[in-house]
Amino acid sequence: MNGRTHIFENIDALYAALEKQWQLAAHAAIADHGAFHVALAGGSTPRNFYKKLAQQSTVDASCWHKTHLYFGDERCVPQDHPDSNYRMAKETLLSVAPLLPEHVHAMFSADFSVEQNVAQYERLLHDTLPLDAGGYPVFDLVLLGMGDDGHTASLFPDTAILHESVKPVAAQFVQKLNAWRMSLTFPAINAASHVAILVVGDAKAEVLADIFSAEQDAVVRYPVQQVNPVGQLDWYLDTAAAHLLSVQD
Ligand code: 6PG
Repeated sequence: MNGRTHIFENIDALYAALEKQWQLAAHAAIADHGAFHVALAGGSTPRNFYKKLAQQSTVDASCWHKTHLYFGDERCVPQDHPDSNYRMAKETLLSVAPLLPEHVHAMFSADFSVEQNVAQYERLLHDTLPLDAGGYPVFDLVLLGMGDDGHTASLFPDTAILHESVKPVAAQFVQKLNAWRMSLTFPAINAASHVAILVVGDAKAEVLADIFSAEQDAVVRYPVQQVNPVGQLDWYLDTAAAHLLSVQD
């Protein structure tokens, strides 16, 4: 298993540690290229982190003014739909933190087709993110979650998007959800300077134990195992999700 593992007794301790990494990554990125480009995770785990970050954090206004927020994945629904990751982020972070509106980059708009949204987001990433030596867009920080089937972002088991080897963003109809999703692809995630994967709760303990016990060159069983960034990877776990791991932090 790649990366550093951090295990916390409770989610507040996990959030506090993640906030420190956010701040460190923000200061490093702004010092390096004058902006901080972050892709947000969806789902329920990061919801209260975003709320805390917006309301209580010590991230200063000058940092927020240089922060660009993107999405790691999105449900292809209107931005005010209960399932929308954009809506969740807006309720908790986007409408509270002193971000510049032009620095908030929703991934999906119901005003356009899925294909148009994908093409527009790909262009946005190339136009706004720093590019690596190969011309590939580089996020400063990508936040991810993990489902109990080992999916991450909207990279679900047995879907074609897992094999996208060039495009930074793509769409995928997810049979098990009977829904269209957009997602950053592994090339985009793995080009990032920092990736933080947040996994909490007992329901994910077995998959996590499978992943952490897998031999380095073992067959990849879960999509999240394909997260292997050029930069730093950190796993943020609570003790419930980590209780089957052999090596405790
Ligand atoms: C999404 C997420 C997805 C999520 C996992 C974990 O759009 O749902 O990006 O990858 O991170 O499903 O979700 P929970 O945090 O709700 O367990």
